[in-house]
Amino acid sequence: MTDKVTELVSKCLQARDLAYCPYSRFPVGAALLTADGAIVTGCNVENASYGLTVCAERTAVQRAVAEGHRQFTAIAVTCDIKDRFVGPCGACRQVLMEFGSNWTVYLTKPDGTYKETKLHELLPLPFSPEHLAKN
Ligand code: THU
Repeated sequence: MTDKVTELVSKCLQARDLAYCPYSRFPVGAALLTADGAIVTGCNVENASYGLTVCAERTAVQRAVAEGHRQFTAIAVTCDIKDRFVGPCGACRQVLMEFGSNWTVYLTKPDGTYKETKLHELLPLPFSPEHLAKN
């Protein structure tokens, strides 16, 4: 594991501890690695109007874009499930796809072990910005 992946995994675990999830009690943490080596984190932020909940991955993306980042090389995602690797929800896969298909998604367990996947494996045959450009 490279130092940068170690850091990314560690930051997503820390981000999970900041989750605001009083309704589901299901904390999720995410850490995005930008092309210039910055790390931007996110956690899930729930709402009393449940449908307004924002997932950890999307919190990280919104924050990163607002901070001027649009190129990403990896994201690490974690939750409290210890016995299997858990992937981002479908909505988050689509939001990640907005920024390219060929980047790495580290599905991370609470003990820091991870499974390395690619976004295009998690969301095959996607709808993406290039389809709009072809109209
Ligand atoms: N959640 C995420 O943050 N990311 C996902 O990819 C799946 C689900 C959050 C949303 C909600 O706060 C809680 O997990 C339970 O669904």
